[in-house]
Amino acid sequence: METLLRKLFLAIGLNKSAARLMRRYGARLGAARFVAGTELRDAAEAVKRLNDEGLLATVDHLGEFVRHAEDAKLAADMCLMTLDLIHNEGLQANLSLKLTSLGLDIDPALCESHMRAILSRANELRIFVRIDMEDYAHCQAAIDLYRKLKRDYPNFGIVIQAYLRRSELDVRTLGRNGANLRLVKGAYKESPQVAYPLKKDVDEAFAKLIRIQLKQGYAAIATHDEAIIEQSLRWIADNNIPNEKFEFQMLYGIREDLQKQLADEGYRVRVYVPYGKDWFGYFMRRLAERPANVWFLLKHMRRK
Ligand code: FDA
Repeated sequence: METLLRKLFLAIGLNKSAARLMRRYGARLGAARFVAGTELRDAAEAVKRLNDEGLLATVDHLGEFVRHAEDAKLAADMCLMTLDLIHNEGLQANLSLKLTSLGLDIDPALCESHMRAILSRANELRIFVRIDMEDYAHCQAAIDLYRKLKRDYPNFGIVIQAYLRRSELDVRTLGRNGANLRLVKGAYKESPQVAYPLKKDVDEAFAKLIRIQLKQGYAAIATHDEAIIEQSLRWIADNNIPNEKFEFQMLYGIREDLQKQLADEGYRVRVYVPYGKDWFGYFMRRLAERPANVWFLLKHMRRK
């Protein structure tokens, strides 16, 4: 049943008409739990609150799989505005972005030119930028562009998904020389040819990738899985890995208790803060990760 629900939410999340319908009727459902708001100002306020509690942030202007060059330009402009706001308001935050929002599916050259503009501004303002990893169909293109741009913009990272069979090799090649990789389990619907279908294999691969990256570079350990966090902390202590070589990352609205607890224990904790009008796909992935969230959603709708 859980697997079916997971597949259903991931499929609906890719549906542009469903997203348009949701936007048009303004049905924000329970998305406010996971999304800071629709405007940049909402993201700034959320980041300030987190910073006040000793948490860092990474801000994401929501949007993905765009098909028109004008939309890609708008998304790039929003990234630039987000960088300016982080700088002007002195927020302790960096930027996360998705290449398909910047036109990767329209024309890779267009996407590269938007990325160069964003990375140049980020470089001037000394703000770190990270490419989120999307579905497998875009993985190689994302890695190729990351490698190309990394030569010119060192303050720049990418995400590697533990569920992909290829990821150990990617971590070993991309994560060397102090590179900063965010490691996640993976949130998209993929075929067993390219991704481990069983959760236990994904968890095992994830723990292994974390250890590899901790040895060779900087690891952003992005998970709410307490067992993995505890296991990693034990391994970190046993191997004398300094706190400067890693951070924990979690999503806005998820396990806020654990975010705060780790920060209070002296670890660097960064919260992923998404904002914007195109929240539907992101929200569906959050429901797919934990179908129990549907009860939360239904309760929220009953109260309205
Ligand atoms: P797991 O799914 O095993 O969950 C462990 C526990 O966490 C659950 O038991 C529950 O308590 C809590 N939890 C997890 N998800 C929840 C939810 N949606 N609602 C409520 N509770 C939840 N993926 C990707 O493919 N590309 C990317 O670029 C990113 N980027 C990214 C950034 C950051 C900062 C994080 C934390 C995650 C991502 N992800 C991602 C998502 C990631 O791949 C994964 O889907 C989620 O983190 C859920 O997996 P966990 O590691 O939390 O473990």
